[in-house]
Parts: sequence; C-alpha cells; structure tokens
Amino acid sequence: MSKPSVLFVCLGNICRSPMAEGAFRSAAEKAALDVETDSAGTADYHVGQPPDARAIRTAADNGVEIPGLRGRQLRPDDFARFTHIFAMDRQNLRNIESIRSDDSGAKVALLMDTVRGREGEEVADPYHDGDEQFALTWADVDAAAKSIVAALKSEKA
Ligand code: 4NP
Repeated sequence: MSKPSVLFVCLGNICRSPMAEGAFRSAAEKAALDVETDSAGTADYHVGQPPDARAIRTAADNGVEIPGLRGRQLRPDDFARFTHIFAMDRQNLRNIESIRSDDSGAKVALLMDTVRGREGEEVADPYHDGDEQFALTWADVDAAAKSIVAALKSEKA
C-alpha cells in the first residue's frame, strides 16, 4: 500500500481542520505512524492566515502547537495527492464532492464517521462561539484523530 496521506477539510481552514491536523499529527507521531497530513478550507476567506487564536490556544492547552499552519483552499489536485479526505460537516462534504474528479482515488467521508457510535455526526462550527465550544471541537477532532491512526496502523499490520 502507498503511504497514507490524510487531508482534513472545513470551511475556513482556521478553526476545525487545523485543530484536526494538529491532533492527527500528534497522535500519528505517538504511534510512530508514517503518514502525510494537511488541512484545507472549501472557502478562500482565510487563505494565508494562521489558525484562529482560540484554535491555537485550545490546541496548546492539549500539548499541540499549530501557530505555524496557514490557511489554504481545497484544490482539485488534492484528490490525487491524498488517500483520505475528511469533511467536518455535511455542507463541506457536499462542496468536496462537487469539485472531485471522476478518477480520484481518495476516500472521502465525514470525520466523525471514523468514531464508533458517532457516525453521521458533524463537527460543529465553533467560529461564532467561545472557548467552551473550541474545547468541544478539540474533543471531537482528537477522538477522530486517534481512531484514524488506529485504523491506519491496523491496515499496515
Ligand atoms: P472553520 O471555521 O471552518 O472551522 O475554519 C470558520 C472560520 C471562518 C468562517 C467560518 C467558519 N468565516 O465565515 O469566516
């Protein structure tokens, strides 16, 4: 199997998906899993910007540093570059599917589909909320990150 590569996608690429990328990179490192990871937004509002200060703070509270990440928009070649693409919510899933090309090999799914008992759930957009919602976002993306790492580890075994 080719080396797995995982892309996390939200709307702005400054809150949920950079937190997911950070949680996943940290979980993969701890598990010694060789994997590429990145994140992107379906919108272009925050291209080139660092994650939201609340996302940076929440990740840091959990031992993960994400201030060096920069927002970018999802692009057609991501479907060839990544083996797995995870959407934070249904609207983003629809937007991902709408730019997907037919020959794309990437598996596309809702992020919370990876967590047993939480299939079909969305990761709520915390952008208009406070720190408490960001802590809930972290709990969601961290649970998914750990599930994905465990699944990729067992695929390789
Ligand atoms: P994200 O959150 O999709 O989790 O990065 C948002 C960030 C920015 C906006 C909406 C959601 N915005 O409307 O600018």
